[in-house]
Parts: sequence; structure tokens; C-alpha cells
Amino acid sequence: MDGLVLAKLLKEADEGGYAIPSFNYSDIWDFKAIVEAAEEEHAPIMIASNPLVVAEFGAETCAAIGNVAMVKAKIPLIHHLDHSFSIEMCKECIDFGYPSVMIDASKYDLETNIKMVNAVMAYAEKKHVYVEAEVGKIKGKGIEGNFKEGDDFLVRVEDAVVLSKATHVNSLAIGIGSAHGFYQGKPQLNFERLSEVNKAIDTHLVLHGGTGIPREDVQKAIRLGINKVNVGTIIHCTYMNSLHKELDRVGDNPYTLDVMKKIRDDIKNVVKTWIQTCMTNGRAR
Ligand code: 13P
Repeated sequence: MDGLVLAKLLKEADEGGYAIPSFNYSDIWDFKAIVEAAEEEHAPIMIASNPLVVAEFGAETCAAIGNVAMVKAKIPLIHHLDHSFSIEMCKECIDFGYPSVMIDASKYDLETNIKMVNAVMAYAEKKHVYVEAEVGKIKGKGIEGNFKEGDDFLVRVEDAVVLSKATHVNSLAIGIGSAHGFYQGKPQLNFERLSEVNKAIDTHLVLHGGTGIPREDVQKAIRLGINKVNVGTIIHCTYMNSLHKELDRVGDNPYTLDVMKKIRDDIKNVVKTWIQTCMTNGRAR
């Protein structure tokens, strides 16, 4: 599996008016649940490790799991490094076989952002690895830090144009008001800005902070140019809440596999709902 497959999937999604969902995993159990759900839905998906997961398990272990899963999955499955702030981690993951990586240098000025994206692009292109960058900022509390309301998160159209021309990066996460984690109140996405960016550049656009965005807003964003939707928090929360309930239910000395089956099924239901949200208008098979 390499980034060329992802390029084809995103092109088909763009033409078909749907988006490829990307789900964040924390360990082997939610990884398995995500893949099984996609197989049962016959849907191509991305499955992503963030830098904390990579730091915990090691790029080699994450890549080994991803590499086997990409070969064995009954659907197109793309293993992705999400939100790497380090060029080195991108390179390491590329070396171990990730077909797709994100270099997030959005906290720097545009010039530095471009330099860092170009450094990853130069390394990735030779190996046909797909690269995602970010302009503007994703709000909320998470590995990116804590951006409050009123902070300068909104992508500037001219920055998106300059960065995409200067780097030819494959896809671009844009700050349009979405946030990592749960939202306080209804998310306020700036659809106008999304549409302006989509008209200004050909680069595939990515919506981060999927958890908590109402289905109709996700679908509107897809109609206006989003080709990939990232979902993380709801996976982790479903995992932990379901684990909590199962442990309460089974009492002392539970057997891991018995407990985990129910959790796997709960995660699968969430993943299936998101696949349906992203792919209502069509689906690559
Ligand atoms: P959520 O955790 O808000 O769903 O966002 C996930 C994400 O954007 C990962 O990059």
C-alpha cells in the first residue's frame, strides 16, 4: 500500500461528493474495531495514530500493525500518522511503511510552515507517501494545545494558496472553527471560508475535530469541498465508557477477551455511523 492508493481514493471521493473518514486509534483493540466496522460497511477508510500513540508504542510497532492490516483488510485501508509536529517522526514512520503522514507546523509562521512541509515532502515523494499539512488552527484541547474562542484560528485563503503552491502538499487541514475534543455548545463552522479555500486551491481539504459536529454540518462541509474527515475523541470515549460499564457488569476477575468483545462492538457502531455520515452520497468499493 502506498500514498498513490490514497490519492486515488481522495480523487474518487472528491468526484463522488463524499469524504474518506479517518479514525484515530489508541491500541490494538480500537484498531481492530475500526477495521472490522469498515469491512462490514465495505468502505475505504484511513486509520491514524497520533504522535502520543507513536511515542508510546514506537513507530516500528505501529507501522508493523498497520502494514499487516493494510495487506489483510478486505477494504482499502490507509495507515496514517496524524498531527506530527516533528519532521523526524514523519521520516521514521515513512521508513517503517506508513503510506500517509501529517506534518503540522501550523503553530509557526507561514514561511516556517512551508519549510517544514517541504522537508517532509522531499522525503515522502520518493517513496510515494502522501503528505497532509495544516493552515489556520484546529481549536480545542488536545495534542496541539489549547486554543480558546477568539484566537486566530481561521485559515486565511491567501495562506492556503501560498502554502499549496510552494509545497504541492497532497492534502490540507484547514482551520474553519472545528475543534479537537468535545464542543461547548454547537460548533460554528465557517462554511464561507471553506468554500473560498476550496475554490482557490485544488489540494484535498481535511476537516479535523469531527467528534460533536452535527451530521448535517459534516455533510455540508463535504459538499463544499472537504474530502477527508478526522474522528478521534468519540472513539476514545466510547472505548473508556464502555470499558467502565463492562467492568461494573462483570464484577471481579474478568477475562480480558470477554470484556473487550462488547467494547469492540460499541466502537464498531460509532465507526459505522461516521462512515455513513461521510459516505452518504457514494462509496468506493
Ligand atoms: P476529534 O477528536 O475532535 O474527533 O478530532 C480528531 C482529529 O481531528 C484528529 O486529528
